[in-house]
Amino acid sequence: SKASRAINIDDLRTLAKARLPRMVFDYIDGGAEDEITLRRSVDRYADYELQWNSLVDISKIDTTTTVFGQPSPLPFFIAPTAASRLFHPKEGELAVARAAQKAGIAYSASTLASQKLADISAAAPDVPKIIQIYVWKDRGIVKELLDRAKEAGFTGCVLTVDTIVAGARERDPRNRFTVPPRLNRKTVSQALARPGYLMDMFTSPKIGPVNFEGLDTGGRGVMNVINELFDRTMTWKDAEWMANEWGGPFAIKGVATAEDAVRAVDHGASAVWVSNHGGRQIDTSVPVIDLLPEMRAAVSPKIEIIADGGVRRGSHVLKLIARGATSVAIGRAYLYGLAAGGEAGVNRAIRILKDDVERGLGLLGVPRLADLDETLLRLRS
Ligand code: FNR
Repeated sequence: SKASRAINIDDLRTLAKARLPRMVFDYIDGGAEDEITLRRSVDRYADYELQWNSLVDISKIDTTTTVFGQPSPLPFFIAPTAASRLFHPKEGELAVARAAQKAGIAYSASTLASQKLADISAAAPDVPKIIQIYVWKDRGIVKELLDRAKEAGFTGCVLTVDTIVAGARERDPRNRFTVPPRLNRKTVSQALARPGYLMDMFTSPKIGPVNFEGLDTGGRGVMNVINELFDRTMTWKDAEWMANEWGGPFAIKGVATAEDAVRAVDHGASAVWVSNHGGRQIDTSVPVIDLLPEMRAAVSPKIEIIADGGVRRGSHVLKLIARGATSVAIGRAYLYGLAAGGEAGVNRAIRILKDDVERGLGLLGVPRLADLDETLLRLRS
């Protein structure tokens, strides 16, 4: 397929754009408000310029790290993203899970996944699996989801704390985008322009969250689901309740200050996931790469720091690691692959980043990822 021949992540994005109706592509591609954080999160990596060590033996490259307490062959893994069947109506999460299994990297399932946790688990039996939690007003739903994740063999849990209210993703209401996509005056022409997608959608089950028995999110915009059903009274006490309820590796995703990193650990987190939700929540938030050293300094070395946002190149992964991340999560990079070519497209996205990371370590003269630090980075003035 064309996706299998993509040279870089941007090629996969172009293919995704050609396959998806505009409103669906915009849901992946877009960010909040003026999309300043979205753009800067990608562009900021270029401001960190590189030096390298000359004449180092690079015959053996070691890209291993730790993800949710387990060894990982690569320094990046799959971030949780809602309703993958939007981007590949037939397989969605299962295509991504199979690709994660193939590469041996961890898979995170969103609270709003569109495939069952047990099926995801069967598609990725041997890699670490992480359940992402948004807190519903009804705590019974949360507890049931945690239990179901445990039963399905998920070993890690991440509580996302930057989405208590939905960011203003202006492309969605402009496109009158809903989950599942509904045809209306605005969307019908966009959908008709992508007959392959339309056919897939109509010959597959209705697209939406499937891990809540009896919960109907049908026809609401994603932002409305968040605003109506998620709990705004949530505080650190609730996070602690959840860490205890889970009882295994536990991350808090979307902390933005060193003080909150410390609080996360004090309330039971084994990992601090530094993220601005890929620029989809509050606009003009700080690019994650700028925050990492203060986050790393604030918590004990045995606490994992996970970073994400704007990663489109292996060099972006390496720069995040050099600035203090233990591992890096990818979102849009694999979603573009999924939309471009299903499982083959996700395989390609992972392969592109893997080759980049290995080549990058060689070019930097740092054969062991674990030896990367800030000494080879200079902030462009
Ligand atoms: C997300 N993200 C996200 N995060 C989360 O905790 N739960 C979720 O359900 C979702 N859903 C979601 C959907 C889509 C379409 C995107 C693009 C992102 C955020 C995600 O986990 C991650 O933080 C960002 O995607 C990282 O930025 P990049 O790699 O996409 O630039």
